[in-house]
Amino acid sequence: MALGFVFGVATSLPISAATTTRAAASATPSITYDATRKLFRIDTGEVTYAFGVDSDGMLQTLYWGARLAARDPLGPARVSPGHASFDSPGSTSPQEYAGWGGRITIEPDLKAHFADGNRDLVLHYASHRIHDDTLEVELRDIRLDVSVWLRYTTDPATGIIGRSARIENHTTQAMTVDAASAASWNLPAGDDYSLRYLTGAWAREWNLQTRAITPGATEIGSRRGTTGDQNNPWFAIERGNQWNEEHGDVWFGALAWSGSWRIRIDQDVLHQVRVTGGYNPFDFSYRLAPGQSLQTPVFYAGYTPHGIGEASRMMHRFEINTVLPQRAETKLRPVLYNSWEATEFKVDEAGQEKLAEAAAKLGVERFVIDDGWFGARNSDHAGLGDWTVNRNKFPHGLSPLIGKVHALGMSFGLWVEPEMVNPDSDLYRAHPDWALHFNDRPRSEGRNQLVLNLARKDVADYVYDVLDRLLSENDIQFLKWDYNRNWTEPGWPEVAPEEQQKVYVAFTNNLYDIMRRLRARHPGVEIESCSGGGARVDLGIMGLTDEVWPSDNTDPSDRLTIQDGFTYAYAPGVMMAWVTGSPNWVNDRRSSLDFRFLSSMQGGLGIGANILEWTPEENAVAQRYVAEYKRIRSTVQRGLLYRLLSPRDQSPQSATESVAADGSQAVLFAFQRQGHEAEPYPTLRLRGLDPKARYRYRLIHGEAVEGTPAEASGAFWMNQGIDLKIRGDLQAAGVVFERTGT
Ligand code: GLA
Repeated sequence: MALGFVFGVATSLPISAATTTRAAASATPSITYDATRKLFRIDTGEVTYAFGVDSDGMLQTLYWGARLAARDPLGPARVSPGHASFDSPGSTSPQEYAGWGGRITIEPDLKAHFADGNRDLVLHYASHRIHDDTLEVELRDIRLDVSVWLRYTTDPATGIIGRSARIENHTTQAMTVDAASAASWNLPAGDDYSLRYLTGAWAREWNLQTRAITPGATEIGSRRGTTGDQNNPWFAIERGNQWNEEHGDVWFGALAWSGSWRIRIDQDVLHQVRVTGGYNPFDFSYRLAPGQSLQTPVFYAGYTPHGIGEASRMMHRFEINTVLPQRAETKLRPVLYNSWEATEFKVDEAGQEKLAEAAAKLGVERFVIDDGWFGARNSDHAGLGDWTVNRNKFPHGLSPLIGKVHALGMSFGLWVEPEMVNPDSDLYRAHPDWALHFNDRPRSEGRNQLVLNLARKDVADYVYDVLDRLLSENDIQFLKWDYNRNWTEPGWPEVAPEEQQKVYVAFTNNLYDIMRRLRARHPGVEIESCSGGGARVDLGIMGLTDEVWPSDNTDPSDRLTIQDGFTYAYAPGVMMAWVTGSPNWVNDRRSSLDFRFLSSMQGGLGIGANILEWTPEENAVAQRYVAEYKRIRSTVQRGLLYRLLSPRDQSPQSATESVAADGSQAVLFAFQRQGHEAEPYPTLRLRGLDPKARYRYRLIHGEAVEGTPAEASGAFWMNQGIDLKIRGDLQAAGVVFERTGT
C-alpha cells in the first residue's frame, strides 16, 4: 500500500447527474497552496484535485475525486517506502510529472539526453504561480538549469482539469527530448479498475472496448502522424463491479492533439494506476538548443461518481462550452447537403445547380460541393495540391453556382484536402521536395497521394495562402477539411539530421496555426474535420473546427453503433450524419427513408443521397423530417444525452434520449435492426426529466401501444416508461416530449 496517497474514490456527494451537467458554472474554482503541508489543492466543479511536495522534493498526486470539504486533511506527501530493493523508496511514488532519472522505475513523463552524454533528469519542485483559475508549478532538475512548468487549468462547470507542460532548456548545451507527456493522472491502488477506450478502422470507427486493468501496461495511440481511427485519444476508467451508465466512479480524459499520440495506462507493483498521455515517443526526438522550449499539448481529465453516461455528458458540455472555437456562441449545425455520394468526382456547374435546387426544396440550409471541383481532379489519381477551379467543370468559376446557392437561401461549402498532394499535379511537378520523404528513398503513396511537409514554413505558407485566396475570392461559408492517408517515410531532409524529427510537433502546430489564421481572417467560415471518415477527431482539432465527420460509413444501421461509440467521448452536436441512398454503398443494405432519417437525426443532420432520383413521395417524407429536425435540433445538439439501450455487439435494439438544456423538451429515438421471435420492444424509461413537470408526447414516426397517455408527469415517463410498437427489421420510432407545465 502506498503511503501518502488518500483514496480518490468518491464518497459521493448528493448531487444528481442532471445537476452536475445542467448547473451553470458553480462556484469559481479555488486553487490554494498550503505552505506548511506543501500542498496544492484545486477545487473545481464537484471535483477536488490535490498534490504535494514530498521530502525528496518530488511532486506527488494526493487525491483526485469527489469534492472534499474545505477543511478536510490532505497530505503531506510522503515518499513511498517502495516494495523491495528492486522497487526502492520513491520509485513507486505517484509522481505528478516524472523526469527519467534517479531511482525512477515508473513510466516517465519526460526523458531527455544532453550533448555531454548525460541522460539523468530529476525534477524537484522549485516555484509556483496561481492566477485566477490557473496554476503553474515549476519543476527544476537537481543540477541542470532545466525547468518544466506544469500548467493546470480548471473548468468549474464540469470539474475537468487541463494539464500541460513546458520544457525549458536554460543550460549552455543542447538537450534532446526523447519522450514528453502532457501529464500523468494517478489513481490510487486498486484491483477493480476497468478501462474503456475506442478502436476502429475506416468505415467502422468508434467501437467501445472494455478491459480489466491488470499489472503491466496498456497502450493506445497513433504512430500515423495524425490522430488515426485505430484508437482515439480518449479513455475512461471505472472502479468496482457496480458501474454502468448511471452509477460508479469514472475518471475520464482526452488529449488535445492531432499528431502522433500515446496514452499509456500502467498498474505498478503497488497496484497504483497511472495514465500518461502526450506525444507518441516512437520515433520522437525534439532538440532544444540553449534557451529553447517545448510546449506540450493539453491532456484534459475529469471525474464523476455518476457512471459513464455522466462522464460523456460532462465531455459534451466541456466541448460545446469550452473547446469549440465559437464556444458559448457556437451555432447550431445547419442541415446540409453534400454531393459526394451522388456525383463523386463528376461535379459540374449544371449538375450541382440542379442538386442545389432540389436540396433547397427539402429545407436544406447549407450546400456543399465535395471532391472533384479543382485542378485535374477527375479521379483520386490527380489534382490534389492544385486548388484552382477546374474550368471544364465550372467554366465561369464558382461564382455563378455560389450566387445561385445563396439565392436559394443556403450557405455554400467546399471540400478541400490541403495537406496532401498527388504526384500527378502541377504543385508536385514544381515542388517535389515539399512532400514528406527521405532523400533517395521510395515515397509510398496512399490513395495515390503524398503528405505535404507542413512543418516547412514555405509549405505552410503556401497552404495558408491558397486557402486564404480561395476564401477571399469566393463567398464561401464552410470548408470540409479532409485528410486521407497516414504518414510514411516522414523525412524532412532540408534541415539538419538532429532537427528532422521535430516534424511530429511542427507539422501539427503549423496545421493549427493555418486554421487559426484562416478563422481570424474569415470569421464567417466554419470548418468540418474529416479524415476518410473519423480518423481526425480529438480535442485539438475540435478547438479549431465546428463539426466533424465520424465515418464514411453512412449505412443507417451500422451508423447506430458508430454514433453510439462516438458519443462516449464527443458531443452529438458536432457529429455529422447524412441520409444517403438505399441500398447503401457500404454494404448494399436497403432501409426505409424513415429509418435513415431517424438514425441521422441523432447528430447534425445532412443529406448525401442523389436527391434528383427521389420520387415526389420521398421528397415529401424528407421535407417533413427536415422540418421536424429543425424543431428538435437544439435539444439533440445541445441537450443532455442519455444512452438508454446500447446498439453495441450487434444488439438488435437501441435507443437514445436527449433532454433540452432548459428541460423543456426531450427527444427519444428507438431502433430495431432485427425483430426477434415474438419479443415485444423493450419498455423505454426516460431519464433526466423533471419528475413533477408534465410532458405531452408526439410521434415523429412510429406508434405507441394502445393506452399510452397523451400527457403524464416526468415521474411517469421515467418510471412507468413508454412502450412503442416497433416490429420487424430495420424499424424505428422518434418521439418528442414537450413540457406542458408543472
Ligand atoms: C474522403 C471523405 C469522403 C469524401 C472523399 C472525397 O473519403 O471521407 O467523405 O469527401 O474523401 O474524395
